[in-house]
Amino acid sequence: MSKVNQFGAFPSVRPRRLRQADWVRRLVRETTLGADDLIWAIVAHDGAQPRVPVQAMPGIERLNVEEAAKAAEEARALGIPLIALFPFIDGAKKDNQGSEATNPKGLVPACVRAMKAAAPEVGVMVDIALDPFTDHGHDGVLRGGAIVNDESVARLVDQALLLAQAGADVIAPSDMMDGRVGAIRMALEKAGKQDTLIMSYAAKYASCFYGPYREAIGSAKALTGDKKTYQMDFANTDEALKECALDVAEGADMLMVKPGLAYLDIVRRVKDAFSLPTFVFQVSGEYSMIKAAAAAGWLEEDRAIVETLTAFKRAGADGIITYFAPRAARLLAAA
Ligand code: PBG
Repeated sequence: MSKVNQFGAFPSVRPRRLRQADWVRRLVRETTLGADDLIWAIVAHDGAQPRVPVQAMPGIERLNVEEAAKAAEEARALGIPLIALFPFIDGAKKDNQGSEATNPKGLVPACVRAMKAAAPEVGVMVDIALDPFTDHGHDGVLRGGAIVNDESVARLVDQALLLAQAGADVIAPSDMMDGRVGAIRMALEKAGKQDTLIMSYAAKYASCFYGPYREAIGSAKALTGDKKTYQMDFANTDEALKECALDVAEGADMLMVKPGLAYLDIVRRVKDAFSLPTFVFQVSGEYSMIKAAAAAGWLEEDRAIVETLTAFKRAGADGIITYFAPRAARLLAAA
C-alpha cells in the first residue's frame, strides 16, 4: 500500500493543523540550515586596491591578500567552517600553460598563508584548475585546438602540491580532466600530505551559469570556445554517478555537484548512491539572478537566499558553496 493511503482521509486528516503556527512548523521541520552548512566563495586579486567591485555580481568584490585574511576572521566570527578561494590574475601574467598557477610566490599561496595565519580555525579550500591563469581561459593546456588531458593533469598536480604545502586544507579540482583526483592524491601521499582533503568537483556541468564568474576572475574575454569537451553535458545524469564513482575510487573525500539549483536531481542521486559528504555550488549566475531580481523589486533577496539554500539541503547536500555565505549566516543567526 502506498504511504499516501495510510494517511487516511479528510476530515480526520487535515494537513493544515501542522502548519497553523510558527512553533509547530518549527517542530515538524525536516530540513534545517545553519552556518555549519556554508562554504563561503570569495575572489582574491593581485592588484593594489583592497577591494574592487565585480560588475556582474553586485555586492561581490575582489579582495587583496589583507582583505582575504580579514574574510577568514569574519568567517570565524560567523561560524562558517570553510572558505573557497578563487583568484583574479593580472592578464600580463597569463600564458598557454597557466605558468602563474605554480608560482610559489603567486597570489593564491600568499592568500592561503595569510588566511591560515589570521584564522587557523577556518578551513581554506583552493580551486585546482588553470583557467584563471591561462591566456585562453581553459582549465587545462591547449594544444592544436584541444585541451590535452594528461599534460594538464601534470600541471594540476603541481598546482595542488604547491597549495597544500602553502597550508590549504582542502584541494578542490574543478578542471574535469580524467584521472586528476588519483594523480593529486598520490602526489599528496608522496609529499607527506596525507591529511589534505580533496573535495572533487565530481559532477561539473558545462553551464551558462558560470558567466558572471568569468568576469570575476577575468577569464571572460580570454575564453576561446567552450568547455564541452571536459565539463559534462547538462542533459546527462547517469554520467554524474560514473564521474563520482571514479573520483571516490581515486581518493576524493567529498563530492560536489555544480551548478546548484538546476541540478537538484543530481545532488539527490549522488547522495543516495554514495552516502558520502556531498556538496553543491550555488554558482555566480545563480547569485546574480537573485541579486538582479531583488534589485528590480521582483524577489525578496533574503527569502530567496534562505529558500534556495534550504532546497540544496533538502535535496541531500551536506553543505553549500555560496557567495551569499556571510549574509546567510547573519540571517540564520537572527532567525
Ligand atoms: C574553474 C571554475 C569555474 C567556476 C569555479 N571554478 C568556472 C568554469 O568552470 O568555467 C565557476 C564558479 C561560479 O560560477 O561561481 N574551473
